[in-house]
Amino acid sequence: MIPVAEPSLGKEELKNVVEAIKSGWISSKGKFIEVFEQKFANYCGRKYGVATSNGTVALHLALKALKICKGDEVIVPDLTFIAVANSVIYCTAKPVFVDSHPDYWCINPEKVEEKITTRTKAIIPVHLYGHPCDMDPIMKIAEEHDLSVIEDAAEAHGAEYKGKKVGSFGEISCFSFYGNKIITTGEGGMCLTNNEELVEKMRILRDHGMNPNKRYWYDVIGFNYRMTNLQAAIGVAQLKKLDEFIEKKRKIAMWYFEGLNELEGRKLIKLHPEMPWAKCVYWMYSILVEDKFGINRDNLTKKLEEKGIDTRPFFYPIHVMPPHKNNDKFSVAEEISSKGINLPSAINLKEEEIEKIVREIRSIC
Ligand SMILES: Cc1ncc(COP(=O)(O)O)c(C=O)c1O
Repeated sequence: MIPVAEPSLGKEELKNVVEAIKSGWISSKGKFIEVFEQKFANYCGRKYGVATSNGTVALHLALKALKICKGDEVIVPDLTFIAVANSVIYCTAKPVFVDSHPDYWCINPEKVEEKITTRTKAIIPVHLYGHPCDMDPIMKIAEEHDLSVIEDAAEAHGAEYKGKKVGSFGEISCFSFYGNKIITTGEGGMCLTNNEELVEKMRILRDHGMNPNKRYWYDVIGFNYRMTNLQAAIGVAQLKKLDEFIEKKRKIAMWYFEGLNELEGRKLIKLHPEMPWAKCVYWMYSILVEDKFGINRDNLTKKLEEKGIDTRPFFYPIHVMPPHKNNDKFSVAEEISSKGINLPSAINLKEEEIEKIVREIRSIC
């Protein structure tokens, strides 16, 4: 099978992990954690990093640090990974869904304001499938309504909005380093911020709520959301390759563009967008299968599978699933979700493999 995603791990990762093992520091103390936090924060243009055990708890930690609690509302995109809405529920707050932008699939800023109430406390823009959100209008709305912005950049390490890295806009930004992400630590995540008070809070909450000046004294209820030194050892090695990985992702996107551009011209498919203000990192190179294609997305998936090509359907709109069911209409998210397919986007893919995928898609339509 040509994989949708696959980690790219090498000698440097192995060397760091061996060093961590030899040092004996395999839990959440050890030199790699702070190095990873500091270097990743620097890379994204932020002062502080708080490494976590995964991206879901990074979101939860950010929401807790911002004191999101019962009765609060948090605006989230309807079309995204489920962890975004779940993390709001973990705080006993309410996720309020907003439809997608038809041109670039992320949250539509024009639809945000109508969802704001006196209970709204925060917005979580998600840079979906590697494409940045339109941050200027989001930041403006947040400022006007005194809302916190938590960027979710789990799928967009290194993407840029108007020349500035994603993850550098919100009060806090969150990342995932799961095995299918652009850089990985196996499981892992991080919160970034410039705010000294918030970083202190997140570090305390990550460590059961322990007072940093009084061992085994807990002023608040916290969590064990720490990253291990073994994970961070991999992260440090991966981070050195991030720019190279992004270049390869963009090369893969260019190969797909060259092969499938003509089908977009005939309105059979829509290609992964890149807005003029965006540098997309194509975490998952994706297309929308239009009605004119001849067969629908699910049948295309099956046919590609028969040819040894792995794909993924887009996320379901969150509002249609039982825990978050809501009868509002999110017509753009619903349409994109039903037509969207993630094509193989692993960093190690070769041009011949992309050519094969392109050939198969062209032969089916
Ligand atoms: C947008 C988004 N947010 C959050 C997460 C959660 O990250 P993790 O799987 O590391 O818990 C993911 C994970 O895939 C994601 O895609």
